[in-house]
Amino acid sequence: MTTVKPALKHFLQFKDFSREEFEYLFERTRWIKEQFKSYKQYWPLVDRTLVMIFEKASTRTRLSFEAGVQQLGGSAIYLNTRDSQLGRGEPVEDAAQVISRMSDVVMIRTFEQDIVERFAANSRVPVINGLTNEYHPCQIMADIFTYIEHRGPIQGKTVAWIGDSNNVCNTWLQAAEVLDFNVHVSTPPGYEVEAERAGLYGTDHFKQFADPKDAVKDADIVTTDVWTSMGYEAENEKRMRAFANWRVDAEMMRQAKPEAIFLHCLPAHRGEEVTADVIDGPQSFVWDEAENRLHVQKALMEYLLLGRVSV
Ligand code: CP
Ligand code: NVA
Repeated sequence: MTTVKPALKHFLQFKDFSREEFEYLFERTRWIKEQFKSYKQYWPLVDRTLVMIFEKASTRTRLSFEAGVQQLGGSAIYLNTRDSQLGRGEPVEDAAQVISRMSDVVMIRTFEQDIVERFAANSRVPVINGLTNEYHPCQIMADIFTYIEHRGPIQGKTVAWIGDSNNVCNTWLQAAEVLDFNVHVSTPPGYEVEAERAGLYGTDHFKQFADPKDAVKDADIVTTDVWTSMGYEAENEKRMRAFANWRVDAEMMRQAKPEAIFLHCLPAHRGEEVTADVIDGPQSFVWDEAENRLHVQKALMEYLLLGRVSV
């Protein structure tokens, strides 16, 4: 295996990478997934340590990063707010100095984007955003890889986002600008996309629709997420009322293209943002989507630690 030692690079939001870098990463993901599926050992990260910092709950992100780094020959250390000094007010800058001297790559799930930005600014090693209030870039890498695997290139396609203009929605919007596809968003009044918070360049890859049925019309991907994201629990009751008509159901799916796929980052609430017949139905690819977190993140860690690899 030959590699070129990479310059220090972080993955804090989707637009941190170019289209060409994503094309490389999706190619590597395919190869890495193939090795895994055929039980071939691939250990390029022997002796490398991933530190995972969680300030919010997780099943998929923890599992896919921890299993992923181990499958590449490395190891993972889990830290959470409750059991570390992070929860007792140690400045994030100080934590970054220390943690990055003892590890090779750091993944953080936290609240404001500013926290991962400050951590990265003080880190000697690559930092990966494992979800913030604003973005969830690893999720959208997995979602796009899932679409490409099942339907081919995403360029020029239309993604319909129904529901809350949250971290996952913002990341779809950034991805559309980087990879040249369209996102049609429908949110209840008062929950519209904030372009600046979403970090958009302001290209014309994004349209908002008052009626969710108009947003899904002729879409290639229909996707949604919980009505109340982590950190917004106090607004739950109000949101339940506001989002009642922004549920993806079979009738909505019929407006999309017949070959459209349904995606959801999970965890899902059947009967709230999506009906059971859609998420458990034939157009749903949510289990592949969840599995692909593992494969895309392995490619991502390989890239951040070793640069471009030719085997
Ligand atoms: N989709 C996702 O990030 O899931 P977890 O919250 O379980 O990590
Ligand atoms: N928008 C959700 C995604 C969970 C993976 C949240 O932030 O809670």
